[in-house]
Amino acid sequence: MNFSKVILITGGAGFIGTHLVKHWVRTYTNQLVINVDLLTYAGNLENLRDIENSENYKFIKGDIRDADFLAQLFIDYPIDSVIHLAAESHVDRSITDPQSFLETNILGTFQLLNACKNAWKDQTSGKLFYHVSTDEVFGSLGEEGYFTEETAYDPRSPYSASKAASDHLVRAYFHTYHLPVVISNCSNNYGPYQFPEKLIPLMIRNIIGMKNLPVYGDGKNTRDWLWVGDHVSAIDLIFHRGEKGETYAIGGHNEWQNLALVQFLCQSIDKKLGKEEGTSEKLITFVTDRKGHDRRYAIDATKLKDKLGWEPQISPEEGMVKTVDWYVENAEWLDSVTSGNYQEYYKKQYQD
Ligand code: NAD
Ligand code: TYD
Repeated sequence: MNFSKVILITGGAGFIGTHLVKHWVRTYTNQLVINVDLLTYAGNLENLRDIENSENYKFIKGDIRDADFLAQLFIDYPIDSVIHLAAESHVDRSITDPQSFLETNILGTFQLLNACKNAWKDQTSGKLFYHVSTDEVFGSLGEEGYFTEETAYDPRSPYSASKAASDHLVRAYFHTYHLPVVISNCSNNYGPYQFPEKLIPLMIRNIIGMKNLPVYGDGKNTRDWLWVGDHVSAIDLIFHRGEKGETYAIGGHNEWQNLALVQFLCQSIDKKLGKEEGTSEKLITFVTDRKGHDRRYAIDATKLKDKLGWEPQISPEEGMVKTVDWYVENAEWLDSVTSGNYQEYYKKQYQD
């Protein structure tokens, strides 16, 4: 089959990557989607079963830190664009093991930028390096205000510092080598296939299993939650219509304090499973706060709305209900992704 374009998506077996790969393979059937993923604890090919046999999809297990692997990949395939998601993505893990975050998020991004720079040295028209990043690079907000594209970088965890460094490298390659790049910084995503180390799936799993629900600190830290499908639609739009060298902030205008969110999950699941009201809320346990815990994140996505017409399509209520339903109905997915050394991680993290 002759493809009109070849798109490399890194980290396509992770949470957001799963949704992005499926969207791209199904929407752009004349493009070849290559998914490169190392399949760390966070990557799971089961997520992609329903598209794995598509003619325009190819999975390659590989490490973005490996320059030789990347150079060969660009020789083997005429890659036009890269959408880069592969990363170590969990703040708590970055606190106990920062080095792997520096290696994957900084050096891995650097190797990928170099591979693109080398492969596209004679021709950059029609090429794009899309870097998927986080709003955590902007630091922590007080009770008021929002992050925008103009907010100064102030990363405060090893995870956000490593993502900030990768953003800077991407911009440096744009200015220094004229590599065509675009960056987006998105707020917290939620939805199906998120690894249960992140707040929402972890709490849902524990509610189902009647385990303690560990809320850090006073539970008033606030996150701006975006339905993962809305993030994917923003990536698609920015990929096609974003301006090279620009940055776009993506967010849901959907702020929740952690405790309120956990209470909402308890109530929804109790209702869904026919349990007496208040049953799961009794499991809420306040635990020692995360080190350097950022207080509040919230995005003002006006630029994306004004320039490209993007707005989230799924309301917060609808998104949360869909999410709870998916995890409750796919409890075996939660079991399968936690069958490795998750128990060990969990014990260490929560002294449980
Ligand atoms: P995830 O942890 O679920 O998935 C990361 C994927 O990258 C996994 O499949 C893993 O196997 C792969 N990977 C890790 N190291 C690799 C390496 N060296 N080589 C190749 N593959 C490797 O992460 P996610 O939540 O899907 O996030 C994806 C991207 O989006 C990340 O760059 C993250 O910083 C960014 N982001 C995430 C959120 C969020 O709320 N989850 C919000 C904004 C931005
Ligand atoms: P998380 O999902 O790890 O995302 P991030 O830290 O990247 O925003 O955490 C979301 C919020 O939930 C954050 O304020 C930390 C808090 N949290 C808990 O209170 N308990 C938990 O067990 C976890 C994993 C997170």
